[in-house]
Amino acid sequence: MIDEINKLKKEKNALILAHNYQLLEVIDAADYVGDSFYLSDIAKKSDKDVIVLCGVHFMAESAKILSPEKTVLLPVVDAGCPLADMVDTDKLSEYKAKHTDAAFVCYINTTAEVKALCDVVVTSSNALKIIKKLDNKKIVFLPDKNLGEYIKEQVPEKEIILWEGFCPTHKKISKESILMLKDEIKDLVVLAHPECEKDVRDISDFVGSTKEIIEYATNTNYKNYVIATEEGVIHTLKRDNPHKNFYAPGKTATCPNMKKTRIKDVYESLLYMKHEIKVDKEVADKARRALENMLLLAR
Ligand code: 13P
Repeated sequence: MIDEINKLKKEKNALILAHNYQLLEVIDAADYVGDSFYLSDIAKKSDKDVIVLCGVHFMAESAKILSPEKTVLLPVVDAGCPLADMVDTDKLSEYKAKHTDAAFVCYINTTAEVKALCDVVVTSSNALKIIKKLDNKKIVFLPDKNLGEYIKEQVPEKEIILWEGFCPTHKKISKESILMLKDEIKDLVVLAHPECEKDVRDISDFVGSTKEIIEYATNTNYKNYVIATEEGVIHTLKRDNPHKNFYAPGKTATCPNMKKTRIKDVYESLLYMKHEIKVDKEVADKARRALENMLLLAR
């Protein structure tokens, strides 16, 4: 199937991007694999006509907004993100009317309509850097409360108002499951995604995006790591670091949406050019400003 995919890729002048949470069979077929920021940056810079985004809807939508001239395909049309669905634009507009002196900063895990109402988009790898650079003292951060809280702890000089959003997959990772592993395994290094709850972040040795977690584990010389994020990251780490041990905290952190895409879907996506992502022009133009502000401020 990889050979067939490669043929189609050439024929259609296409690029395959995969998020770190995808199944290994999909990761193996991808040209680039990474976190949300990396994928949006590659999508923008690529000169290919077609981008197949193996991930969830907001990722493909962000790629389309940044590259309106390209055809962007999402292999599985209902691969969504519950966190991205936790912002209602009416409530956001009410917040905007109430906090006129605030900068509105949204996580990339949001819909195009929400991005269109915000000043700048951030991802887990650049949120801290970007928020520190903003002139506004007051920031409204949405929708992930855990990432927002993590930033707030490190930028006490800013007044950061948080939204009540969360990632259901990261919420399942408990401090207790990590402590149990720490009891069993000596010198266990804990790496966590900032979407984890505070009690998990507080007992972690390193907090970062999926790509940063992979880089940290690859570039350090410890033997045992517990990976407090979606379990897809562990498969890549095990494949690339056969002499290290990687443990999952409990067995529950699987994102059902990220796991919907199979290699067969990637093949069919290219063959039938489905499912093409379209964004209303007015919304896309406004959302693009917020996404381009991210690319600028993240440098
Ligand atoms: P990363 O940007 O760290 O890949 O995170 C994306 C995401 O949705 C985490 O749940």
